[in-house]
Amino acid sequence: ADYDLIVRNAKIVTAERQSEGDIAVKDGKVAALGADVKGTATREIDAGGKFVLPGGVDSHCHIEQRSGMGVMCADDFYTGTVSAAFGGTTTVIPFAAQHRGMSLRQVVKDYHEAATPKAVIDYAFHLIITDPTQQVLGQELPALIKDGYTSFKIYMTYDAMKVSDYQILDILALARRDGALVMVHAENHDMIQWLAHHLVDQGHVAPKFHAIAHARVAEAEATNRAISLARLVDAPLLLVHMSEIEAIDTLRQAQKKGLKIFGETCPQYIALTADDMDKPGVEGAMWCCSPPPRDSEAQEAVWAALKDGTFQTFSSDHAPYQFNEKGKIPKGDKTTFKEMANGVPGLEIRLPILFSEGVQKGRITLQQFVALTSANHAKLYGLYPKKGTIAVGSDADFAIWDADKDVTIRWKDLHDNVGYSPYEGRQIKGWPITVVSRGRVVVEDGKLNAARGSGQFLPCASPDSAKPQGQTAPELQSMSRFGLKPLF
Ligand code: URP
Ligand code: ZN
Ligand code: ZN
Ligand code: ZN
Repeated sequence: ADYDLIVRNAKIVTAERQSEGDIAVKDGKVAALGADVKGTATREIDAGGKFVLPGGVDSHCHIEQRSGMGVMCADDFYTGTVSAAFGGTTTVIPFAAQHRGMSLRQVVKDYHEAATPKAVIDYAFHLIITDPTQQVLGQELPALIKDGYTSFKIYMTYDAMKVSDYQILDILALARRDGALVMVHAENHDMIQWLAHHLVDQGHVAPKFHAIAHARVAEAEATNRAISLARLVDAPLLLVHMSEIEAIDTLRQAQKKGLKIFGETCPQYIALTADDMDKPGVEGAMWCCSPPPRDSEAQEAVWAALKDGTFQTFSSDHAPYQFNEKGKIPKGDKTTFKEMANGVPGLEIRLPILFSEGVQKGRITLQQFVALTSANHAKLYGLYPKKGTIAVGSDADFAIWDADKDVTIRWKDLHDNVGYSPYEGRQIKGWPITVVSRGRVVVEDGKLNAARGSGQFLPCASPDSAKPQGQTAPELQSMSRFGLKPLF
């Protein structure tokens, strides 16, 4: 045969364009595209005029990772990637997370050991930096960037994870010099700690108080501060999991000034609110994540930012914990909101929820959907055009969507290992029914057809997103007028 696979009669949609025709695949790559591809294939699939979209790229998910408080994620690289595949995602970028005192090189080794035998779709890694020692900044990071780990996440909150503003500047300056993109979790740590202390002091310990402790202004303040730090040293920055109006507005204003500041949001901020945590006992913990879901007004602001391009990416922030003592509620019924594991699952429902709520309801176009769920992730993190599009020469990663399929979300039908879904009972219209990863039909007729360990590691190129915009703070620019060398 001329090809390994031909998908015929498809409505092909990329972030750039829509076309009708066939997709021919050979050796895991798209080999031909067009109205009527000639030739034979080992396997042909008639898409029957359905949409064929690039496989999702999920650039924010926690898989087989230990939280700041030491709780292990419910999903390992097998269940995590299987769940992703069933939801139309063919590439994940989880984190290799350093905890203080660890060598970053060793951390990366450990995550590879975990992923290699289990992943069923392709994966890259971001690095979480919690301990930017001289060894990390001077040797490990520059070498790791060269090896294809070109993005880092840093935290402004969580006792075990947070880095100081001083350390953020060190990390931003290094990322700027060596071509990596910094992602930041922006919440004001002391505001949260102070509120949490007083809440607990007065006996307000139920899950719903998590949303009060993580006040909106804590996100707004830290967002503004993170952007200011990035401006000082002229380093691009990406704000992850944005949830609230003022922070989004701050991001939009920064972009209007021409700064290279990017933004991400997640399903929980369009589909959940803080009220979901208002349940008897500790049950509300199932909806607990940071930042917390807000209210319907914030949801509208999130939609507006998805529509007008303020957000580049829609990621899951899949942070899966079971509802038991090893997961969400370490002290059982006695767990206060301070001890609950933070995070909700979302790898599998990310695309369907945005498709249903966004595309079907006319809030975003199908091309925006592809940009937000796939293309922009690949572009921002140095994987484009290998991933993120359907084009000759690109990896054959795509999904055939049944736009009319009605699905009621039931955890028992999902493929993660969490044991519940925060979206149980929701009605969804549209689902990816056939999923192809590097030319392999990995999901079909509700069944998985991919071996453990068949996913491949993707080293990331240094992305354009990481190139400095070209203007440090005026004081730093004035150094040259004094005849002095740049500070960093
Ligand atoms: O609640 C969340 N999002 N937990 C996961 C860790 C993080 O901060 O992204
Ligand atoms: Zn975070
Ligand atoms: Zn909290
Ligand atoms: Zn996260």
